[in-house]
Amino acid sequence: MRFLLFLAPLLLNAVEPITPIPQKIPYNYEKASLGKNLFFDTILSRDQTIACASCHDFNHGGADPRPMSIGVNGKKGNMQSPSVFNAVFNFKQFWNGRAKNLTDQVVGPIHNPAEMDMTTAQLEKRINSNAAYRDSFYKITGRSSITIADIAGVISEYEKTLITPNSKFDRFLRGEVILSTEELRGYTLFKTLGCASCHNGVNMGGNSFQKFGVIIPITRTLTTDDRYTLTKRENDKNVFKVPSLRNIALTAPYFHDGSAETLQGALKIMAMHNLGTKLSAKEIQDVTSFLNTLTGQIPSKMIIK
Ligand code: HEC
Ligand code: HEC
Repeated sequence: MRFLLFLAPLLLNAVEPITPIPQKIPYNYEKASLGKNLFFDTILSRDQTIACASCHDFNHGGADPRPMSIGVNGKKGNMQSPSVFNAVFNFKQFWNGRAKNLTDQVVGPIHNPAEMDMTTAQLEKRINSNAAYRDSFYKITGRSSITIADIAGVISEYEKTLITPNSKFDRFLRGEVILSTEELRGYTLFKTLGCASCHNGVNMGGNSFQKFGVIIPITRTLTTDDRYTLTKRENDKNVFKVPSLRNIALTAPYFHDGSAETLQGALKIMAMHNLGTKLSAKEIQDVTSFLNTLTGQIPSKMIIK
């Protein structure tokens, strides 16, 4: 019996659309440690009030509890801040995928006038005049002057440490624990309804672009940066990178514009607009229970070597 229990998830795994988050991925400790200091430092913003962590809150699943982030001088952005946790697993960065990887992404918020609002020259001048950063970067690059590329390099190295393994669901996939009946019903629904056709892989998303409202169009005007703003192709209107569902219970509000306040509300809209299905109250409860099993271990602010 024990043998079978152990084997069942392994057999299932061969066909499961979701794979567990690895315990650790390789990174350079010295670079990541320096990147961590910069991630939490307001030195990156024009008036020295905003850090990366201001909008990517470790006490809120690495995302922002506000529907729209607020940058320097109280300026409001036009998108909801997604989590930095597990972002390393996304095939592209940003809701519309305009950055090809984490290193490319870093300069986005630094230059964005509604976020940190710093030019390359301003940033390089400021970091180069900070003795502690000059010393730390010298140890890594062997150069006495720091460039924006050096800064992006160490911050993105740090982001490799921000992964959240060992959620109940991942432990279930590895055959270490069982799900409750309700959670298991929710997971079955997640697959049979078709949620897993878009939210799959290690991040349960982050690996394709899809339309918000593919079956029943969203009628309100979306004032945000969709794929269309990059490609100018009509078909790309309201198309976004499918967001990860990892730690989803922690990161309300939901959607690229923060328009869904609760998880139940978000998945009701998903089922209706992206699958053409109206869920019963019981189904909503079951799927929500399943989504609650996706909360992993939140990274500590200390990096373990
Ligand atoms: C003022 C708030 C704010 C600040 C400061 C900020 N971010 Fe963000 N971050 C956002 C928002 C909003 C988005 C989504 C923007 C979009 O997709 O168009 C985002 C997106 C991201 C993403 C992409 C995640 C994904 O799933 O696509 C990463 C990674 C990220 N930020 C890291 C950082 C880093 C590193 C810094 C510091 C250099 C930083 N952020 C500073 C608000 C902020
Ligand atoms: C056709 C692809 C597709 C299907 C099917 C789909 N989703 Fe989504 N999902 C998306 C996209 C795209 C978004 C981003 C929408 C936006 O913000 O504009 C999203 C967003 C979400 C969000 C909000 C995530 C966040 O961080 O804001 C949740 C929760 C969610 N989906 C759950 C589900 C569930 C549960 C199902 C099944 C009932 C489902 N999805 C089916 C593509 C899909």
